Amino acid sequence: MTLTKEEQAMLDGEYGKAVQQSMKVLVTLGKIYGAERMIKITNVHSPGVSYRVTGDSGLNYVKEASRDAVFKIPMTLNAIGIDYQDWKKIGFPEDFSQKQIELSEAYRKMGAIEVNSCTPYLAGNFPRFGEHIAWGESSAIVFANSVLGARTNREGGPTALAAALTGCVPECGLHLDKNRRGTHLIKVEKQPVTDKDYAVLGYFAGKLAGKDVPVLEGVHNCPSIENFKTLGAAMASSGAVALYHIIGHTPEAPDKNSVIDDSIKPVVFGPKEYDEVCAKFELSGPIDFVVIGCPHVSIIEMRDIARLLEGKKLKSGLWVCIARSVKNLADTMGYSKIIIDAGGEIICDTCPVLCCTLTQRNYKTVATNSGKMAHYAPGLWNLQPVLLNLDECIRAGIAGKWEA
Ligand code: F3S
Repeated sequence: MTLTKEEQAMLDGEYGKAVQQSMKVLVTLGKIYGAERMIKITNVHSPGVSYRVTGDSGLNYVKEASRDAVFKIPMTLNAIGIDYQDWKKIGFPEDFSQKQIELSEAYRKMGAIEVNSCTPYLAGNFPRFGEHIAWGESSAIVFANSVLGARTNREGGPTALAAALTGCVPECGLHLDKNRRGTHLIKVEKQPVTDKDYAVLGYFAGKLAGKDVPVLEGVHNCPSIENFKTLGAAMASSGAVALYHIIGHTPEAPDKNSVIDDSIKPVVFGPKEYDEVCAKFELSGPIDFVVIGCPHVSIIEMRDIARLLEGKKLKSGLWVCIARSVKNLADTMGYSKIIIDAGGEIICDTCPVLCCTLTQRNYKTVATNSGKMAHYAPGLWNLQPVLLNLDECIRAGIAGKWEA
């Protein structure tokens, strides 16, 4: 790889040990992926910031780096392992919480911005079209690439840390035009309307495309930010999609020729394919737990949840997962109080996948509007999931059961 003078100086240790170690990681990766040079990036969104993911080895690595280094560019943090303010009230274990606090403090010392959310784009980190960035967290990566038209590979905790300390990444993968073209064409004949529809379509597309680039053709309605959020998170769960295009709706796909070759034959997503995905996530009977906010909810979703819960009481547990900055607005709007009065819990900074408390609660079933949550719930928590629309989830929570 050809390095600039400054990059070489970093590699030679002139900027300290943590920066040197970071540049070594990035150069090694660049060589593996055939990069000819580094590319400057403008910001980082770091995954691997939950103690549940890092364990002690990751915690020690980050603490060591924080002794002599500060971030060269802005870094926001993904969801962590606890609600930073209310961990005691919610019942997160003391030992785990203290380790998480140490980890967050080490990141803060280096200059991280603690949005603690998988939706940094709802919390102030909103890259422009064409901007080169280094993001982790699968649902955020796919949103940045596809909806915003920014450019990032799938970064893990160590590479995100290295990118923030050096301000660069190897020029490879989705930073290059040639790798952003579609590989699979999906002809959408069952129009997505509800949040569940977008989760189902995303799940289908992810299964089909794996880690490649699906292109959706024939989507008539303009998806909302919430629809895009749900769609991408599901694609990145059933597969490992980091970029998709919707012809006529995402910025790199004004028309078909811009994103996919004529030679690629379409696969149909119709009512039959829709029903096949739904069949994986069906149940009738008691609902112990409802999860909304995977990825973290927007203020519009908070409004909708509050409207559905006003004056009602929940029989099931309810977690609404959210970035703290969005929660602050929801507090001002009175939405949070309505949800809490109904018996729901508003969980900031974390989510059921990244925290560590659910086993204590003895839940067996979960209703969710998230394809990602439905996908992970059985393996992670032994929870049987049902995938529903937002309003159906809340109705199931109020009734304490769901009848298909
Ligand atoms: Fe976010 Fe946790 Fe889901 S990080 S996307 S709420 S698994």
